[in-house]
Amino acid sequence: MPKSTTVGRLAVIGTGKIGQAAGKLWLHAGYEVVFGSRNPAGAAALAELGATVATPVEAARAADVVLLAVPGETVEELLPSLADALAGKIVIDATNKIGFAEGRWVSTLEPGLTEGRWMAGQLPRSTVVRAFSHIPDELLWPRGTEQALYWAMAIAGDDRAAMATLTGLIHDAGWVPVDIGGLDESGHLDPGGSVFHLFYTEIEMREVVGLTVAA
Ligand SMILES: NC(=O)c1ccc[n+]([C@@H]2O[C@H](COP(=O)([O-])OP(=O)(O)OC[C@H]3O[C@@H](n4cnc5c(N)ncnc54)[C@H](OP(=O)(O)O)[C@@H]3O)[C@@H](O)[C@H]2O)c1
Repeated sequence: MPKSTTVGRLAVIGTGKIGQAAGKLWLHAGYEVVFGSRNPAGAAALAELGATVATPVEAARAADVVLLAVPGETVEELLPSLADALAGKIVIDATNKIGFAEGRWVSTLEPGLTEGRWMAGQLPRSTVVRAFSHIPDELLWPRGTEQALYWAMAIAGDDRAAMATLTGLIHDAGWVPVDIGGLDESGHLDPGGSVFHLFYTEIEMREVVGLTVAA
């Protein structure tokens, strides 16, 4: 299948559950992927898949678009070291600052602050968009491949050009992108949001998030 974007090389920072699944989906779609790991030598299995493995800074420098897939609790410590390498680039933020309270998953950010808006504040020289944040890791790869383009993924961002690129990347990863709006409206895809850890078709998701206009 031809790729939907002109993105040359993607970086995935973090080689855990979400990073590996997302990176493998893009490799599967024919993209060049460089993983950023604290221990590049320990990620030999990813190199065997056809990816490059480097340090997080090297990976961010080498790519046009960068997926952040590191723990929400520690991402703040990592960002200063990456900020220069991420400047001027599209940063796809999958990270969640997540807690569990009164029987529900919740964002640990202050009420009213979305994860995407928080990240954009940390990386003012980058174009931050949100994706992957509401999809449980164990189904990201199988649904993106065995049931490609049946399941919706909510995406959000303020920059139209970046959102067009993200739309193509999510489509090529085997998911149907549903643009739920700008970063300030993106709480739906954050912990505790209306689509968090849930699966919908595109039509269903549009209803759930209150989008009345068809794609
Ligand atoms: N799991 C899910 O279902 C899911 C779904 C949606 C979103 N998310 C979000 O996506 C992000 C990644 O989740 P995940 O489940 O993929 O996490 P994970 O399996 O724990 O992987 C996180 C990766 O981040 C890297 N990392 C960098 N700094 C780290 C640090 N100080 N401590 C630990 N790891 C560090 C590690 O890769 P290296 O060792 O290679 O550096 C690690 O493998 C989180 O913010 C999470 O909230 C998770």
